[in-house]
Amino acid sequence: MIGEAELLPQSRLPRPWETRCVPPYRDLAAYNDRAPEYDRGWRGRLHHEIADRTATLAAMTVPSPGRVLDVGCGTGYLLRTLASRYPDAQRLCGIDAAPQMISTASACTRDDRLSFAVGVAEKLGYPDGTFDLIVSTTSFDHWPDQQAGLVECARVLRPGGHLVLVDQFSSWLLPTLATGRRGKARTKGRATNLVLRAGFISPQWHSVYALIINAVTATKPA
Ligand SMILES: C[S@@+](CC[C@H](N)C(=O)[O-])C[C@H]1O[C@@H](n2cnc3c(N)ncnc32)[C@H](O)[C@@H]1O
Repeated sequence: MIGEAELLPQSRLPRPWETRCVPPYRDLAAYNDRAPEYDRGWRGRLHHEIADRTATLAAMTVPSPGRVLDVGCGTGYLLRTLASRYPDAQRLCGIDAAPQMISTASACTRDDRLSFAVGVAEKLGYPDGTFDLIVSTTSFDHWPDQQAGLVECARVLRPGGHLVLVDQFSSWLLPTLATGRRGKARTKGRATNLVLRAGFISPQWHSVYALIINAVTATKPA
């Protein structure tokens, strides 16, 4: 049985100034700066639409989870949406590498089942087997070590738990792999390989938005 105190991330988390440096955390300074305005304008509406569709997919995949984690939660919109979809969930935790995203998420949230903390996918500060469901939307592409992040997701899921990973996955993105996003899992084939290597089984692909935003769902073996 996992105690409530253990749901607080325990790893050493990056300090604000560490997230301001160039690679491996090159995108984080921009997310810190964008956090207060992140949910506004056309980009905000786009992220909300992707999050709404992700919530629908998550609810079809796991009808009634007890504990949910959103990795790269941004301002927490998806987690708040999941909180209303999952009235029986006990805890909904969000982590994000950008401290300003976490401040914004915390300020927008009234439901005390939700909690937000600075953290990175590659080192999730939770005990093994904590969560029934892990979601992540448009964050994976920014993870400096995508394989390590997925291994961590598998570790903190309980046996039989589910991953819902949404991002840009499309063969249309192949040209970008030769340039700025070299080595990233931006195709379904590459992402499937990483998901399986992390120990998940039964990967299934789902369309989420337009042609390039897709989701892979996968299960931790029971
Ligand atoms: C495009 S935003 C998506 C935020 C939110 N999930 C949404 O759908 O609106 C990407 C987020 O991933 C976070 N991020 C980048 N690298 C990360 C990592 N290694 N671990 C956790 N979060 C990370 C960024 O700080 C940023 O908030």
